[in-house]
Amino acid sequence: MLPYTIYIKDRLITVRSASAKDASAWLHYLRQVGDETDFLAFCSEQVTMSTGEAGKYLDYVSRRTDNLFLLAADTTRIVASLNFQRGRWPFTRHQGEFGVSVLAEFWGYGLARHMIETMLEWSSQNNIKKINLKVRTDNIRAIKLYQSMGFIIEGTIEREYFRPGVFYSAYHMGLKL
Ligand SMILES: CC(C)(COP(=O)(O)OP(=O)(O)OC[C@H]1O[C@@H](n2cnc3c(N)ncnc32)[C@H](O)[C@@H]1OP(=O)(O)O)[C@@H](O)C(=O)NCCC(=O)NCCS
Repeated sequence: MLPYTIYIKDRLITVRSASAKDASAWLHYLRQVGDETDFLAFCSEQVTMSTGEAGKYLDYVSRRTDNLFLLAADTTRIVASLNFQRGRWPFTRHQGEFGVSVLAEFWGYGLARHMIETMLEWSSQNNIKKINLKVRTDNIRAIKLYQSMGFIIEGTIEREYFRPGVFYSAYHMGLKL
């Protein structure tokens, strides 16, 4: 299943699990993607982790069997990431929640779809029965993608995101496996 490669814009992109060695590139990625879109929960100035802290975090999540932390990268940088977290308790372990993001110049080439498919395959192999996510109600591109993969809108969460002066609602979306 992992790693695998896909061609986007004549570049070879490898999708693989994250590791502590990705710390510096991952922080760079977070700062760029955070400023390229309004739809994430942060922007670059809120990415205050040091490289050492990021390394420890990535080391921790990459060792946990309850997490799937995927990165897509070319030879120079990270271009997308997907983080799935399974429920930690006995009665919630059957489900998990994920978030995905892609650098803007790589939007629309199927990268997020590939990474979500990988997560679904991993989830089936790990006996997960439900996948959840939250998405801003005005994030049409993401909602269409999730719907095209079988996710349905299960409800609306009001005031889920706040940017100076404005609250945004989110859809809770889910897929039963
Ligand atoms: C949402 C996001 C992850 C999608 O990544 P991506 O790699 O561009 O997605 P894909 O190329 O795999 O799929 C694009 C799908 O989006 C939809 N889409 C693409 N352009 C669209 C548009 N202009 N309007 C509506 N839907 C659109 C289509 O359903 C398309 O599927 P297709 O393969 O049938 O054409 C990416 O745009 C992103 O990182 N956005 C900023 C962060 C974000 O919003 N993350 C999600 C938070 S919940």
